[in-house]
Amino acid sequence: MKISVIGCGYLGAVHAASMAELGHQVLGIDVDEAKVASLQRGVAPFHEPGFDDLLVKNAQRLYFTTDMAAAADAKVHFIAVGTPQSADGSADMTYVNAAIEGLIPYLSPGDLVVGKSTVPVGTAQRLSESVVSSGAILMWNPEFLREGFAVEDTLSPDRLVYGLPEGESGDAALAILDSVYELILAKQTPRLVMNFATAELVKVAANSFLATKISFINAMAEIAEVTGANVTELADAIGHDSRIGRRFLNAGIGFGGGCLPKDIRGFVARAEELGVGQSLDFLRSVDAINLRRRARVVDVVIEELGALAGKKIAVWGLAFKPDSDDIRDSPALDIVENLARAGARVIAADPQASGPARKRIEHAGLASSVTLTDDHHESARGVDAIVVATEWNVFCEEDPTAIAPLVSNKLVIDGRNTLDSKAWKAAGFTYRGMGRS
Ligand code: UGA
Repeated sequence: MKISVIGCGYLGAVHAASMAELGHQVLGIDVDEAKVASLQRGVAPFHEPGFDDLLVKNAQRLYFTTDMAAAADAKVHFIAVGTPQSADGSADMTYVNAAIEGLIPYLSPGDLVVGKSTVPVGTAQRLSESVVSSGAILMWNPEFLREGFAVEDTLSPDRLVYGLPEGESGDAALAILDSVYELILAKQTPRLVMNFATAELVKVAANSFLATKISFINAMAEIAEVTGANVTELADAIGHDSRIGRRFLNAGIGFGGGCLPKDIRGFVARAEELGVGQSLDFLRSVDAINLRRRARVVDVVIEELGALAGKKIAVWGLAFKPDSDDIRDSPALDIVENLARAGARVIAADPQASGPARKRIEHAGLASSVTLTDDHHESARGVDAIVVATEWNVFCEEDPTAIAPLVSNKLVIDGRNTLDSKAWKAAGFTYRGMGRS
């Protein structure tokens, strides 16, 4: 099958390469010339495990361009552009609208347009009229991939969700997408068929649930901090109840990234527009708890060190999660900035994200108080404290006895509750976790 993928960010580029891996001829289209040139050379423009290999392995079936006219050759067109957060919290639909408008002149009757972007409920219905007037069919097929596992999640998803129009065109869309995903469906992947609105809601509901789970455990961390309880032991204990489950109950500095934070805010904004804002009032609390965690870490540092002016602090982690160089809404980067604003000299280390972080630190006017490096050993030299903000394996597995001689004061603040506290204490460190007395 000839496929176009419009939008080549984390979602679109991985989707394009994965569709090629399934044996399709794939054309990736993006307005960003540098990104397209990099992908066309077989070089991933971002860090995502396994993605480079997929690009190289499938180079014969993959082509990247900035020219939307090239989409005329394809029968199935995936819309995978971003829906960033607008100033009022709602999802900015500029790129989705532009992608559909740009694509329409190149559609042929019987083509299938498949929306993958995360959109406010009602979007597919709104866009379908213009797609249908060109003789094509529109459907929505939300994506649930996690950064760091994007390739695996695309090729072996937990489930496939098809949001279909009613009637014959829905049947036709289903048959076409089934043939695109034939090899995935052959692995007994559950495929759930529903209407547009349900499919759109499934995506934001899933991200809202995950965000709620994380903020729930972080709220418990706040209680644990004033009662002498230990939130990790609490999470282990409640997680044994299979109705609750242990996953996404890791307390710490909270969630970030390009999805969870903006999706809950976009969902709240959409519910307000629909007159049911009250239904999602709890998501405002989820957001507020999450943002408090970033401030809490700075408070813990101040509790231990007093005023931060003149203090030197290493922050381990800049990316919003390990195995990614994505710094969008990263709690780690916010903490770096807040420590620097409080007067500290910060040396921040991340194996992948120090390059992407540099621009933001410069933009924030903090280049003179923040040093960025890939090397966490280097960052620890002569510091008064180490703050672990992203749980990269290299940090979690670090031998504290190798770090002890480097620092000038043995204090470690484990923002992700990920270190072996006993080993760090045995090496002479004062250990502070999150949600523990
Ligand atoms: C999230 C969803 O998990 C995906 O299913 C979804 O497809 C994606 O958004 C999207 O909408 O595109 P992702 O943003 O890659 O994926 O990251 P997550 O693995 O969900 O982690 C989000 C944040 O939560 C990270 O900052 C992570 O450190 C934090 N987190 C996660 C916690 O603080 N505690 C936990 O227990 C789990």
